[in-house]
Amino acid sequence: MSFTPPLATLRRDGNAVVILDQTGLPWRVVERRLTTLEDVLEAIVAMRVRGAPLIGVAAAHGLALALERDASDAALEAAIARLLATRPTAVNLRLALEAQRTVLAPLPPSERPVAAWREAERQRRDDAARCEAIGRAGLPWIETLARRLGRPVRVLTHCNAGWVATCGAGTALSPIYLAHAAGIALEVFVSETRPRNQGLITHWELTQAGVPATLIADDAAGLLIAQGDIDLVLVGADRIARNGDVANKIGTYLKALAAHAHGVPFLVAAPATTFDPACPDGAAIPIEERAADEVLTVAGLPPGANGPVPVRLTPLPARVRNPAFDLTPARWITAILTETGAWPAPLAAAKLFPESDR
Ligand code: MRU
Repeated sequence: MSFTPPLATLRRDGNAVVILDQTGLPWRVVERRLTTLEDVLEAIVAMRVRGAPLIGVAAAHGLALALERDASDAALEAAIARLLATRPTAVNLRLALEAQRTVLAPLPPSERPVAAWREAERQRRDDAARCEAIGRAGLPWIETLARRLGRPVRVLTHCNAGWVATCGAGTALSPIYLAHAAGIALEVFVSETRPRNQGLITHWELTQAGVPATLIADDAAGLLIAQGDIDLVLVGADRIARNGDVANKIGTYLKALAAHAHGVPFLVAAPATTFDPACPDGAAIPIEERAADEVLTVAGLPPGANGPVPVRLTPLPARVRNPAFDLTPARWITAILTETGAWPAPLAAAKLFPESDR
């Protein structure tokens, strides 16, 4: 039993990288060809590629593009620094670039471009394998609930942690796809995830795969959890601290708070590439603040338009705060699903990185 994504989120095409441009979703499926480091920087900042695992793999490919032009030590470090500065919260980006540096730095510049492409491809395949293993770690939770409840399992998810956000089946959605393939009846509640509305991508993914999905406004989650309409909350992560605190898309914290208050299991799904043993706890995780325009607008498709355009929500000037992520404390997390199994949040980093246990 497995799930094969219907499209590649990122692929190499000669000396270019072709991405699924997520700014078109869920309206338009459009690919975009990236041929320079600048193209990749723009794609990450503008969230044409997004989702912690995919950002990391995209950065690894961006480095290969950069080295095609200049593979000197200085150019290698400059490209890594520029890629690192694109998005601060998802640690996958840093790990992907550090893995590239470990491979590339000892090599003579003439050998670096080929090696960088090879390492980028290794990371792409590795991410797909991790997603599959996370699906297998999460499936028993859904199976058990289905057996116990004797009716469709109602899962709440937030943001997009599906195939679109990775190079494989996704993280939080991977167990859902496996459960659906196993014939387990599910209903997935998808919160819209303002301001960028990544929930619409999740709804699109699930609908395409035939998984029953119900879209809700972000603030509806509290009521649904309180009145017993949610059996399980399942989300992804952008960085997990050594103590199990989780940074994920803004809005995750309130869902965890409600789940904790009402005794609903709250699972986080993430590969080892999302753990940062160097962060002792959530307070050490940098939270990205994004542009005010994201709050002041919403993307839609007016009749006749070629693709989604931002529509302004107020004629007034407004002061805005736009933190893109929040922090869920480990004590509210029932378990973290990783490629090595499901672990209590405070133990998960130690299970993945035994040396961080000391
Ligand atoms: O700002 P985004 O859309 O890149 O944030 C994405 C999330 O918060 C996801 O939940 C997380 O990266 C997991 S993706 C498998």
